[in-house]
Amino acid sequence: MLTSSQKRDFTDNGYIVLPGFKSPAELSALKTRAEKIAAAHDFDACREVFSTASQRGPQADRIQDYFLGSANETRCFFEEDAFGADGELTQPLAQSINKIGHAMHDLDPVFSAFSHGDKLAGLAKDVGLHQPQIWQSMYIFKQARIGGKVDWHQDGGFFMTTPQSVTTFWFAVDDATLENGCLWVEPGGHKGKLRQQFVRDGRKTKLVDLDTTPWPDTTTATPVEVKAGTLVCFHGLLPHYSAPNTSDKARHAYTLHVTDGACDYAPDNWIQRSKEFPVRGFI
Ligand code: FE2
Repeated sequence: MLTSSQKRDFTDNGYIVLPGFKSPAELSALKTRAEKIAAAHDFDACREVFSTASQRGPQADRIQDYFLGSANETRCFFEEDAFGADGELTQPLAQSINKIGHAMHDLDPVFSAFSHGDKLAGLAKDVGLHQPQIWQSMYIFKQARIGGKVDWHQDGGFFMTTPQSVTTFWFAVDDATLENGCLWVEPGGHKGKLRQQFVRDGRKTKLVDLDTTPWPDTTTATPVEVKAGTLVCFHGLLPHYSAPNTSDKARHAYTLHVTDGACDYAPDNWIQRSKEFPVRGFI
């Protein structure tokens, strides 16, 4: 489905923006389902605060089992600033969930329908994925006012393959703007090295530094402001980040992280699948 010029853009810049990839009806179905899952969240059973910082900080032990257990489940994570000093939610539950992860694409019929099909399979082929394998899905709420930032990172470090094959499919469920914390990318930055690897060792995980190249910042990077329905597809080595949502509306997005089954998938990647629950492609 990509033109030769679009394929060249992907190779040169490390990402491609495809407006109108998903219809309003598809977006609405996904959003409704995500909100239903969030509303049904068992708040008392898993009062876990999610933040990217917590993967490295003192909260790591507390959230570890809940996080690792989400690899092949459907679980909800809270915004970092969802709780007040008294430990109670500062906003209604439905406006306090950071994301749902990480296997809805295989477990939930609505998410599965959104995440599979000929159109996505064709695009995967065009960006060089010979045997696509979808390891992870995330529905990101980026809640109004408390939707936290996601620090600069490369997705390749979370799903190591040899050679590198990780590709991210990022769907805008709502319009993404500077004010509500759109993606920022470093065009061409995928030609650099992988800086960090997220490694699992039993019940422990760690972020290992591999390369000291500094992360870009907003003076050198490009914001990717897009309309709802747009698919941003990007290379696993492309540095990207998103700012906090300072607006008064949530900014929903949905992502799939995909590797090429023709490449070796590292045994210390945090998500692994069993024979009973095999990893699948887009068909
Ligand atoms: Fe990412």
